[in-house]
Amino acid sequence: MTEIIDGNEVAQEIRDGLGDAIATLEDAGVTPALATVLMSDDPASETYVSMKQDDCEEVGIEALDIEISPDADAQELYDTIDELNGDEAVNGVLVQMPVPDHVDDRAVLRNIDPAKDVDGFHPENVGRLVAGNARFKPCTPHGIQKLLDAAGVDPEGKDAVVVGRSEIVGKPMANLLLQKDEGGNATVTVCHSRTDDMAAKTRDADIVIAAAGVPELIDGEMLTEGTTVIDVGVNRVETDTEKGYELVGDVDFESAKAKASAITPVPGGVGPMTRAMLLYNTVKATAQQHG
Ligand code: GUN
Repeated sequence: MTEIIDGNEVAQEIRDGLGDAIATLEDAGVTPALATVLMSDDPASETYVSMKQDDCEEVGIEALDIEISPDADAQELYDTIDELNGDEAVNGVLVQMPVPDHVDDRAVLRNIDPAKDVDGFHPENVGRLVAGNARFKPCTPHGIQKLLDAAGVDPEGKDAVVVGRSEIVGKPMANLLLQKDEGGNATVTVCHSRTDDMAAKTRDADIVIAAAGVPELIDGEMLTEGTTVIDVGVNRVETDTEKGYELVGDVDFESAKAKASAITPVPGGVGPMTRAMLLYNTVKATAQQHG
């Protein structure tokens, strides 16, 4: 039987596990606070940010909701980040990506105080992750490590194939799997749009992590029996339903499930974990700032 890894359940465990740390901070008169900054009118980004806000409130993290018009000058965003960096009552700062084209996203990430960079995207934090001394593990790959652990899959000594080389998922995922730490010690291959014969790599894998942003890129034909499959994809595919679209992963679920020993669904797999690990990083940031 293929195990369907339940991201909602594991995410709930992570949220429950934060209760003690939040209570300890509260006893010391500190309420963790996360500021989310949205400079976009993309409905998906709006939804993600509002879910992050709801999650915060559910566990007792204060959520500051800052919206900047996508037509505003980039300077308005930089000034907002400066203000949040300097505000002692704000422990985490998250700028929802992508930002509009006229805003330099690298400059945005560089401007966030690394101690408040709960996404883990600031170059200093990226460097620390690669050096094996992470301050904040980026939320999606960290959540995937927790999902693998919950499924009883230890990457140590295994062949892991990461499909996708984004700064947000693919690259940090490969790095975490490579670290000499719990949840790491894998032999890691990173595939991408220029990879020749991707199926040959995925068929050799014990763990496949699909994070390419291509609907149903990975199917059962590309997998060997017993592989653990993690699907990071959230692709909007147009349909003639009332909603007009459906969300499809990077994995063709049914054919992959027939081969996999364990697999994450979309939705209900990786997504809830990304959100839970953001809460984890926010609590960690708060504790570090008050340590
Ligand atoms: N856009 C898509 N995923 C993310 C994320 O994890 N963090 C931020 N800030 N923006 C995103």
